[in-house]
Amino acid sequence: MLTIERGSMRLEGKRAIVTGAAGALGRVIATALADEGAAVAGFDLNGSGCEETAALVAARGRPAHAVAVDLTDFAAVGRAVGTVRESFDGVDILVNCAGGGVVCAFHEMDIETWQRQLDRNLTAVFTVTRHVLPGMLAQREGRIVNIASVAAIAGGRLVRGATAYAAAKAGVVGLTKALAIEVAEEGVTVNCLAPGAQATPGRDRDTPERREQLLSQIPTRLLGRPEDLAGAVVFLVAPAAANITGVILPLDGGHSI
Ligand SMILES: NC(=O)c1ccc[n+]([C@@H]2O[C@H](COP(=O)([O-])OP(=O)(O)OC[C@H]3O[C@@H](n4cnc5c(N)ncnc54)[C@H](O)[C@@H]3O)[C@@H](O)[C@H]2O)c1
Repeated sequence: MLTIERGSMRLEGKRAIVTGAAGALGRVIATALADEGAAVAGFDLNGSGCEETAALVAARGRPAHAVAVDLTDFAAVGRAVGTVRESFDGVDILVNCAGGGVVCAFHEMDIETWQRQLDRNLTAVFTVTRHVLPGMLAQREGRIVNIASVAAIAGGRLVRGATAYAAAKAGVVGLTKALAIEVAEEGVTVNCLAPGAQATPGRDRDTPERREQLLSQIPTRLLGRPEDLAGAVVFLVAPAAANITGVILPLDGGHSI
């Protein structure tokens, strides 16, 4: 008889960095990792929001750390990762969650808007991963989860005017697969979630017409629950997922089918 190994989803003693930790999804991911036993450091431009997330981690009895940092600043990210190494003595888990889109018609987009979207959604994944990966390779163990978007695989049907965002997130998908191959024999896995529209507080501003337009694009007619997205992150970084790498997992109610 097959049984699920006891503790195969627990993260006791693991040390995690979550970027975008002040944001709606980053905060839920950080607390979910802490619930399973991990120490969690949050990185975000929003320092006070990051501190609030760290307080939620600490309230769960786990070591917590918060760093206000612009993830597009390579040197600053290096210093931020250094402070986590000092306080946690290493990093086992990296969740690249920071990001976000602007809506802009392609034929009106200036080069600055384009570049900012690439920096925020793709370069930020490079900077943090580049600084964290050498430690993971040295310890021959690491888990990286990148948060992309359904826009990367199904275009921008949920939001017209998302070309730069979709291009950046498609870059995250490509980076995930190429890096997964590059480090596959080194004990490091690299996976990616591609969420559809999530039931985050920002959605409360939707008009009933906008809500109906969104739901009409989603076969299940459900927005994603941040708790479920966090559950997928916990699974991908847990012992049970040791042999899963290079996966792009849509969490989109079937939107990308
Ligand atoms: N919410 C959704 O419906 C949805 C759907 C698909 C994908 N996503 C993706 O999930 C991730 C999280 O989304 P969210 O809803 O929590 O967004 P959010 O806006 O609530 O949080 C994003 C966080 O990233 C931080 N951030 C942005 N640029 C940064 C930078 N340069 N340096 C440091 N921090 C920076 C922001 O300060 C913010 O706290 C994003 O990558 C987003 O693209 C979200």
